Amino acid sequence: MSDARNLGRVAVLMGGRSSEREVSLSSGSGVLAALRSSGVDAVSFDPGRQSLAELESARFDRVFNMLHGVGGEDGTIQGVLEWLRVPYTGSGVLASAIGIDKQATCALWESIGLPVPKGRVVTDAAEVPALLAELGPSLVVKPNKDGSSFGVVKLEDATAETLAEAIRSSQEVETDVIVEQRIHGREFTCALLGEGAGTQALPVVEIMAPGGDYNSVNKYQGNEVKYACPAPLDDAKTEEMKRLAVEAYRAVGARGWGRIDTMMEPDGTIYLLEINTNPGMTPHSLVPMAARAIGVSYEELVLRVAAEARLDR
Ligand SMILES: Nc1ncnc2c1ncn2[C@@H]1O[C@H](COP(=O)(O)OP(=O)(O)O)[C@@H](O)[C@H]1O
Ligand SMILES: [Mg+2]
Repeated sequence: MSDARNLGRVAVLMGGRSSEREVSLSSGSGVLAALRSSGVDAVSFDPGRQSLAELESARFDRVFNMLHGVGGEDGTIQGVLEWLRVPYTGSGVLASAIGIDKQATCALWESIGLPVPKGRVVTDAAEVPALLAELGPSLVVKPNKDGSSFGVVKLEDATAETLAEAIRSSQEVETDVIVEQRIHGREFTCALLGEGAGTQALPVVEIMAPGGDYNSVNKYQGNEVKYACPAPLDDAKTEEMKRLAVEAYRAVGARGWGRIDTMMEPDGTIYLLEINTNPGMTPHSLVPMAARAIGVSYEELVLRVAAEARLDR
């Protein structure tokens, strides 16, 4: 385990300006408490409220980046930290910029033969009839970069009218929305630690939301969603899911830690939905749950991720 004293003075970035600000504050408070209880000299830093000049003048030894979404998980704050030469947790500039963009990520995965739902980014409602012809009437509309399931609309038997309406509603969250084929089946997530050939997959988590609807409300509130970790899959499926997650993580060039969301159809076909390069660390979050399944506590997980903070080469 990493020695808390070697980590130096740590700034935990949390909050920020994205739609996931509240989730980030929750993740960040957990991480800050874990660092402090392990004896690390750690303070919180909110780029949504504090000037980045303060980040520079405070001369931190490292940053634990617990920002979610645009501005914190998309390569921009990573670029600032590169410029300031302050090592930070998680993925670097390019992997973060790819990972935040679901369409870019899926295009990359598809190009190396990894399984993704068919779909594309739509900005203009005039494309609706062509989309229906291409993708069929069972669809998911979601913001390309936003997270936490904000603005996700699921359609069955979509018509030009209902699809156009779903696009409009998703565009209230973000102008660039993805329309993709809806996968019917079980939902999973796989957490990854490390990087490159040293990437390690944690036990797969199955997410069982009421009515199969894992939305922004039941993601963070209440106890409606049930989880199983390790997911009840046979050994071959478990290995396949982990192998796909590792390949997908490495293809993006992710490092430190991350989480890949997947779904599996009843015939066993697995699809990759997205990568999260700064995964949640709230009380409901899935990476700490997966770590716990192999006997790694929340505090140990935080120390391990913090110890791997670095700059792009
Ligand atoms: N193609 C799809 N088919 C079925 N459900 C989907 C699909 N894409 C997303 N979902 C559902 O919406 C949720 C959020 O989508 P996701 O791509 O993980 O984005 P984010 O978590 O960033 O909001 C998923 O957890 C899943 O329940
Ligand atoms: Mg997700």
